[in-house]
Amino acid sequence: METMYLVGFMGAGKTSISQELAKRLSVPVYDTDKEIVKSSGKSINEIFATDGEAKFREIESEVLQKMPSEEAIVATGGGIVGAERNRLFLREKANVVFLYTELSEIIKRVEGDDSRPLLQKGNLDAAETLYRSRLPLYRETANIEIDTSGKSIPAIVDEIVERMKN
Ligand code: S3P
Repeated sequence: METMYLVGFMGAGKTSISQELAKRLSVPVYDTDKEIVKSSGKSINEIFATDGEAKFREIESEVLQKMPSEEAIVATGGGIVGAERNRLFLREKANVVFLYTELSEIIKRVEGDDSRPLLQKGNLDAAETLYRSRLPLYRETANIEIDTSGKSIPAIVDEIVERMKN
């Protein structure tokens, strides 16, 4: 199979769904955030605080390009679609899944999680603006869209497997 990339906003379930999908398809799973932490030796919060978001985005694009193109599942960071070069890279791929989740559901899921610098100030207006600006970018980048609302992880994985191309 060609590698499957999962895109979507923070809290859409990319990490847990990627792990379940990888088990189901018996392929390794990668997470761009984890690869960034591994290669820089710093947490995401630290990179944002000491090097800035622009540096984070630079590393994120490099990490994306280095992911295996076959036999893998790749969960991406919610902001990966912000860079045009990442969108162009992903649009060439056969299996890019946008996990659509309503903003109200996302807010519930990420409440109390302080590992995401862009949601840390508890600023819901900023989160909403970011969410709305990214929706069209996820849609133009992905070729499969799955609405995750009210669905269990195994049900979402079933749907993805049904719709994936080889
Ligand atoms: C970000 C999402 C995060 C992480 C970083 C920035 C974003 O990943 O890459 O905090 O800009 O939406 P998750 O989507 O896995 O939370």
